[in-house]
Amino acid sequence: MMHMAQDQDPEENIDPWGSLQIEDYADTMDQFGIDPMEKTGEKLPQQHRYLRRGIVYGHRDFGRVVDAINNDGPFAMMTGLMPSGEFHFGHKLVADQMIFYQELGAELFIAVADVEAYVTRDMDTDEMRELAIDQYLTNYIALGLDPENVHFYFQSEGSPHYNAMSKYFSKHVTQNEVEAVYGDISPAKTVSALTQAADILQPQFAEHGGPKPVVVPVGTDQDPHIRLTRDIASRFKDQDFIKPAATYHKFMRGLQGGKMSSSKPNSYIALTDPVDEALTKIDRAKTGGRDTLEEHREKGADIEEDVVFELLAFHLVDDDDRLRDIHDQYSSGEMLSGELKQIAKDELRNFLEQHQEKRADAKDRVDAFLS
Ligand code: TRP
Repeated sequence: MMHMAQDQDPEENIDPWGSLQIEDYADTMDQFGIDPMEKTGEKLPQQHRYLRRGIVYGHRDFGRVVDAINNDGPFAMMTGLMPSGEFHFGHKLVADQMIFYQELGAELFIAVADVEAYVTRDMDTDEMRELAIDQYLTNYIALGLDPENVHFYFQSEGSPHYNAMSKYFSKHVTQNEVEAVYGDISPAKTVSALTQAADILQPQFAEHGGPKPVVVPVGTDQDPHIRLTRDIASRFKDQDFIKPAATYHKFMRGLQGGKMSSSKPNSYIALTDPVDEALTKIDRAKTGGRDTLEEHREKGADIEEDVVFELLAFHLVDDDDRLRDIHDQYSSGEMLSGELKQIAKDELRNFLEQHQEKRADAKDRVDAFLS
């Protein structure tokens, strides 16, 4: 089941500019033809915790990318970011995947979607640029992104060929098709979609070595762009493209439940939050603890409802055995919400202190990505 902010029919389309929240991922996969990740992901030489825990839950054509990795063939990872505010743990989910693929040998393409933000949102260009560098890029570097083999670019400053391609692609898309994929679509959204197609296909342009497997890690809300781009890839005549692959991840909920959103500072922890503020956000976060101690001891926590446990699972506890222990103790009622929060606070303090130190160093390395 999906809840959409827009008044469109969720049975038919996803709005990549709306605020999609999915409750049943199996249902979404069925509906849109996304394949389950498990069997394909298992063939990778390394298993990131996002794979082990079903956080990256689905894919299209990812098998091709796995084959390239296992045969030491060339492959690329492409993704884009909308510079919307502070860099938080929701954004870290994508950054961790970039670094994972980089370590597996990928060439990386990272687009700052400033054209998309300009035409679909009310955002100032200078402010976007600053956010993209000071928030996104600097945190990527602090998390471990290496400048080697990375193309970090602004959509507004793409190559002439990239710009031309984003327009040529319009020839291969019908109005019926965009309406089937997106529902109601404005010129600004059409431009954003075609620009994103150029982002995703760019790793296969002649100047980047021609056709190769490409993986695009996205949230499910971006699937319409993936589908459209795959169709364009198969129809384009002047050069061959391999249909780009995509993986789909679950979104972490906001700290109060509901959606995590850059416009609601209490819904997220930014990687630049002062440690004390971040810990206070944990204190106030929604848990699955029961109303009374007796009830909690008897029924155990409702883990599904607990965003603090979610933060541990997504980001703060990498060791599966340890996470399972916490899970079992908490869901049996042996562990209380306050105790769970204490674990989260200890891990978070640790992480943020180290990260913020690395961030200070990372600032000096930003230029290596911008040249
Ligand atoms: N539309 C994406 C967003 O809203 C940003 C984006 C632009 C993107 N180009 C991309 C994502 C290419 C994946 C691949 O966040």
